[in-house]
Amino acid sequence: MNEPIPNRPRRNRSSEAIRDLVRETHLTTHDLIYPVFVQEGTGISQEIATMPGIHRHSLDQLSKHVESVAELGIRAIALFPVLGDDRKDTLATESTREDGLMQNSIRELKKLFPELLLFTDVAMDPYSSDGHDGLVHDGKIVNDKTLPILAAMAVSQAAAGADIVAPSDMMDGRVAVIRDTLDDAGFTETGICSYSAKYASAFYGPFRDALDSAPRSGDKKTYQMDPANMNEAIREVELDIDEGADIVMVKPAGAYLDIISEVASMSPVPVAAYQVSGEYAMIKFASQAGAIDEESAMLESLTAIKRAGADMIFTYFAPVAARLLP
Ligand code: PBG
Repeated sequence: MNEPIPNRPRRNRSSEAIRDLVRETHLTTHDLIYPVFVQEGTGISQEIATMPGIHRHSLDQLSKHVESVAELGIRAIALFPVLGDDRKDTLATESTREDGLMQNSIRELKKLFPELLLFTDVAMDPYSSDGHDGLVHDGKIVNDKTLPILAAMAVSQAAAGADIVAPSDMMDGRVAVIRDTLDDAGFTETGICSYSAKYASAFYGPFRDALDSAPRSGDKKTYQMDPANMNEAIREVELDIDEGADIVMVKPAGAYLDIISEVASMSPVPVAAYQVSGEYAMIKFASQAGAIDEESAMLESLTAIKRAGADMIFTYFAPVAARLLP
């Protein structure tokens, strides 16, 4: 006879009932934030070629879409504007216009869905003719002159009704300036979800297609982080917390689970992770090609992000996932 095997981990996997009992990570619809794209016009729902199933909606269509996802139990969305070239300039002037696309959309969505938590993007790139998140001077992205523009954008979004502003620009010191400016303007209740550890990633391609916001020249490596770095992520998170961030984010998610884990273990504020457009596209296109099963790959990827330590996940899969999750 062979020696008896003293430890048999398989016992705890032997039925669905026992697997449900011993599961360590529970993903629910309430963990999810759904990013959506709004464009000008009416009656428009245009699918993004590199993001099957995701559309740029005009506001009327977006409102209908949001109503249907709210019925699935989704309680938070992140809003991104898609602007034509005629609305873009070097100063991102459009980003603070009181009846700009973003402001009108925020007002309308909060009027229709007062309970819905609305995250709004703060960065220059959707409005910038240079396609950068900050001001460009002589080919360089200048930090300090960008800060008042971001702060004014945040105030303008807060005034329209945004619950949480989300600076995605990676300029140094922006959380402090945004917090100060919001407070001075009386928006002490508006939260800040900072894209703290945002990497210069190849996985943002489909999002830049959606917004037509790719940098017109150069890349984003002088402000977004080097994918090789972990300590720097901790430093960015510490600075943002000091400056007043209510939530810190790691982005992208799937290729940065170690960063999420490390940040979760040190951060006293909640940690968000963003499963970005390229991560979504990989799963979509691989499943369309018959290489993987979309549903299980999606749930596995989201569970892994939560297991790593994310308290909340930005994901384009939110409505699809919500149909399957508690
Ligand atoms: C830019 C911004 C980007 C994303 C969110 N905000 C792209 C970039 O930095 O170029 C990417 C989101 C995604 O890929 O889903 N401020």
